[in-house]
Amino acid sequence: MTIADELQATIEQMVQPGKGILAADESHLTIAKRFAAIKVESTEENRRVYRALLFTTPGIEDYISGVIQFEETLDQTSDDDILLPEVLARRGIVPGIKVDKGKGPLALSPGDLITYGLDGLAERLQHCKSQGARFAKWRDVYQISGHNPTSLAISANAEMLARYSAVCQELGIVPIVEPEVLIDGDHSLARCAEVIEAVQKEIFHALHRHHVVLEHIILKPSMVLPGKDHSVRASPEEIAVATLRVFRRTVPAAVPGINFLSGGLSPEQATANLNAMNVGDAPWLLSFSYGRALQQPVLQAWQGKAENVGAAQQALLKRARLNGAAQRGEYQE
Ligand code: 13P
Repeated sequence: MTIADELQATIEQMVQPGKGILAADESHLTIAKRFAAIKVESTEENRRVYRALLFTTPGIEDYISGVIQFEETLDQTSDDDILLPEVLARRGIVPGIKVDKGKGPLALSPGDLITYGLDGLAERLQHCKSQGARFAKWRDVYQISGHNPTSLAISANAEMLARYSAVCQELGIVPIVEPEVLIDGDHSLARCAEVIEAVQKEIFHALHRHHVVLEHIILKPSMVLPGKDHSVRASPEEIAVATLRVFRRTVPAAVPGINFLSGGLSPEQATANLNAMNVGDAPWLLSFSYGRALQQPVLQAWQGKAENVGAAQQALLKRARLNGAAQRGEYQE
């Protein structure tokens, strides 16, 4: 199989009607925060138990086509001693891996962020591939203020995402390209639209410069939303109209799938917004790659207790099913 065939096969398995991606790639710091909210200590064993719970949930393969994992998970096993990436693969779910090394301030550019992790990336990707990963994720983060993100942040982050994507494709790994424009702040829907338009325009320009094959990427963007402290809320229909307008302007039709992040929306809002976007026609498959919007109800049901595993898995299956319906524009509240 050529590298191009390998990439194409992964795309076809991941981008399917009625299915989306589960993001379970929280860093140690983030998972510790999620566990603290239910008074569970973030030990290696608790993280293993929790992620095994997610991945062994009966029936999720009908709605979940890929799972983004954190490095540690690739070495962990289920209760019956099967490596977790193998648990996914056996169910027809593509195992993936987050490979960026997190974000920090962009030097000399107050309020802007930059993502780390290009050094040694090819070697890390090779290793993750030998452990079963067939796609990867890299997240750029943009904060909105009156003057952020600056044009410097927009170009520097686009360059990093494009270089990461090229390394992935050279190794036969599908890159998820994730520009997260944060929901924090009191900006309007129109301001968010303006930022996402500028960010995505620059990213596709950089992907082109770096010879990245658009048919073999998945875009994981933010929805166009008013900031969480803005005085006016937007309906799912308004969000869908604003998001699709920006995406038609910036995302070539060659991109097979757009899988939104949930970015702090409630599980119900994330599903309703996705559904509204799928009511009309679009050139790409519009789906989900949710972390919190899939996992919040699971954590609430689980509470770290073995006797709650069944209820927690039911909670995951329910959100996966509803988001699968939203991908088809068939979700009913
Ligand atoms: P949320 O859906 O919780 O935003 O997480 C998705 C993700 O992978 C962020 O990088």
